Amino acid sequence: MEIIIKSDYSEISSDSAMIVANQIKTKPNTVLGLATGSTPLGLYKELIQLHLNEGLDFSNVITFNLDEYVGLSNDHPQSYNVFMRDNLFSKINIKKENIHIPNGNAPHDKECERYESLIIRSGGIDLQILGIGSDGHIAFNEPSSSLGSRTRLKTLTQETVKDNARFFDNISDVPRFAITMGVGTIMEAKKILLIASGVSKTTPIRKAIEGPISSMCSASAIQMHPKTIVMVDEAAAKDLKEKDYYKWVYNNKKTLKN
Ligand code: F6R
Repeated sequence: MEIIIKSDYSEISSDSAMIVANQIKTKPNTVLGLATGSTPLGLYKELIQLHLNEGLDFSNVITFNLDEYVGLSNDHPQSYNVFMRDNLFSKINIKKENIHIPNGNAPHDKECERYESLIIRSGGIDLQILGIGSDGHIAFNEPSSSLGSRTRLKTLTQETVKDNARFFDNISDVPRFAITMGVGTIMEAKKILLIASGVSKTTPIRKAIEGPISSMCSASAIQMHPKTIVMVDEAAAKDLKEKDYYKWVYNNKKTLKN
């Protein structure tokens, strides 16, 4: 794992956007795995700016979102379909047919199989963007999710329902179920970029990076991934025991010529 500690959210947003942009420039038909939630909003804003100001071309990019709520229509303001449309897709030149989000209203088992095979048929995910939940989840792989799990229906924890209530008028409106890529699905991405910012992420980040690999913190599975970047700000990195070492590694790497 490469652990990069930035000063704040705005640096995470701009630097993670550079990683995504370089990926797209190197491979224009990149398959991107995308997350929703508050954390990647700054990254998406930066990507939109790179598209508008520098012509970053999404015309051949293919995307797969991590998850979608079950039971919300595709045009529900809190659906991840609308989130992605409003915060990224409508502002870049991505082709509609290249966008993939699980259908939370289709028969679940079939939809999950369809999603898994679509990812495989697209050649697999080149770069997966991840956030992390306060209970350590990636996508909606809540505590006790099998680390080998595939795309499936999951019941959200009460903690996640509470965390996500800020987007809804009432906590009782927050869906209890989602279709989510599994930990095993995510681990097959060729590269992973996990971003986290703020004090609410201090504990999950410590567990994910320095804790034991455990289904109780599904993000800890990324310790097993050969090409993972974790980009966090000082607040999220606050409790990392080896924080100084991560900074030392990063600063030394910058001096490497090859
Ligand atoms: C969203 C997702 C979730 C979020 C996580 C953090 O697609 O998969 O795992 O990344 O809940 O959410 P925020 O960024 O809102 O703190």
